[in-house]
Amino acid sequence: MLKIRMFSSLNGNFLKKAGWVTMTLLALLLFLIASRYLALNPKLYFEEQKAVYIAHTSGILMHVMGAMLAIIIGPFQFLPGSITRRYLTLHRWLGKSYMVGVLFGGLGGLYMAFLAYGGLPAQAGFALLAVLWLFSGYMAYQHIRNREVLLHRQWMVRNYALTFAGVMLRLWLAILHYVGLSLLQPIF
Ligand code: HEM
Repeated sequence: MLKIRMFSSLNGNFLKKAGWVTMTLLALLLFLIASRYLALNPKLYFEEQKAVYIAHTSGILMHVMGAMLAIIIGPFQFLPGSITRRYLTLHRWLGKSYMVGVLFGGLGGLYMAFLAYGGLPAQAGFALLAVLWLFSGYMAYQHIRNREVLLHRQWMVRNYALTFAGVMLRLWLAILHYVGLSLLQPIF
């Protein structure tokens, strides 16, 4: 009985670590892919939306820069050590930077949603995602201001899951492309 319990707890720990590493590597990959927008070179923009992005450079840049900040900071905030006394000040500063990222990424995303490729379904989907992203960030912030740590953590998990939609959208497009159900080029 004890052996089974030890084995399942070892397994659980391994799965948690493997999950964190996978999430962080995927976040890093999207961070690097998105960073091409910082070059301000329209040749590197998403082909189908090039004209829109040239006409709304500040909107797309605000979104991409904010989202890049959030996606790269997020995983480190979930490390158990990050809320120990030693790292608490760092956790607070990274948390504030993350929230700034969500705010800019979300407002820029909401603005760009009305111009998105794919018509009304895509536009409505992106707009809803942006609103939920901003709302869950606001809830997480309010809870920690009221010192409600557990509720803060729960809302941050929801919020980062929404940040991670940026990875999942591209992953699904790539999977659908390789099984022959291509909606867009896989890089988007
Ligand atoms: C989670 C909430 C998010 C929302 C609501 C959102 C919304 C949008 C919208 C509306 C567009 C324009 C799409 C179009 O022109 O058809 C866009 C493009 C873009 N987004 Fe996001 N996004 C989110 C997350 C992210 C994340 C986490 C990243 C990663 C850094 C990201 C990076 C980009 C990039 C690079 C583009 C330009 C298109 C491309 O080249 O892939 N987004 N996003």
